[in-house]
Order: sequence, then structure tokens, then C-alpha cells
Amino acid sequence: MATADKSASPRAVPMPKDAIAMLRADHRKVSALFDDFEAARSTAKKKMLVAQICEELTVHTALEEEVFYPAVKAALRDKELVPEATVEHASVKDLIAQVKDVEPDGEMYDAKVKVMSEFVKHHVKEEQNEMFPKAQKTRLDMVALRDEMLARKQALLAQAST
Ligand SMILES: [Fe+2]
Repeated sequence: MATADKSASPRAVPMPKDAIAMLRADHRKVSALFDDFEAARSTAKKKMLVAQICEELTVHTALEEEVFYPAVKAALRDKELVPEATVEHASVKDLIAQVKDVEPDGEMYDAKVKVMSEFVKHHVKEEQNEMFPKAQKTRLDMVALRDEMLARKQALLAQAST
């Protein structure tokens, strides 16, 4: 039975085939973290998950804004999708600033994470249903963009851990 590349070990980080596969993988990862947060009961667990969510989203939004969006905007001569996504990112970043390094202290904290997850869900839907399919029809070199994003990601993660 052909199971394609789903057989890859979940612990290994397989090289995404192109920029869109890379961004989709980020989306899946962060959605799973939000699900874990919903199920989490202890403050320690919530805090750990939020730290991961904030790091993932900070890197993801930077990669999109610095590398992917400018390329897509130019290729599509877009005046709508990229500006909207950028505004959505600003809302997410605002919420990140409100929960990052804050003790999970009850319903307002949980509400902020919940609203953040809803913004992210909306953002993922718009990208995956609209922006990515349009970008895929252009002549953009998605492999080169992946490489550019991978390099930027490494730099950002190295910066974050110092
Ligand atoms: Fe995204």
C-alpha cells in the first residue's frame, strides 16, 4: 500500500519539499500546540506550551514577512492578500506580547491564547485556501524560497537561544 511520505518518523524533521510545504508544516505544528494548550490543565504545562507557541509564531511570521510575502506580493502584483495577512500578523504579535513570559493566571490568560489560536486559524485558512494556490500558479521558485527561509529560520533560532 502506498503511504507516500507519511511514513517519515514524526521525530525526524524531514526537509520540506518547497516553501509552501515548509509553511504548511509550521501551520500544522502550531495548530497541534494550540490543541495541546486546550487540553492542558496545569499552569506549568500551559506556560511551556505558550512559550513554544510564541517562539513558533514569532519565527513563522518573520519568515513570511521577510521572505515569502515580498516574493508573493511581487509575483502576484498583490494589493490585498499580503497586506491583510500582515495586519493579521500584527494582531497575533500583539497577543504574543501579552502572554509571553506571563504566568498563566486564569481566564484572561486563557482567553488571550484562545483568541490567538482563532486568529491563527483564520490566517492559516486564508493562506492555504487563497494565497498559496495563487502563489503556486506563478513562476516563483519555491525551492529557492524554502532555502532562503530555512537559512533565516536558523539565524532567528540561533539568535533566540543566545
Ligand atoms: Fe502562515
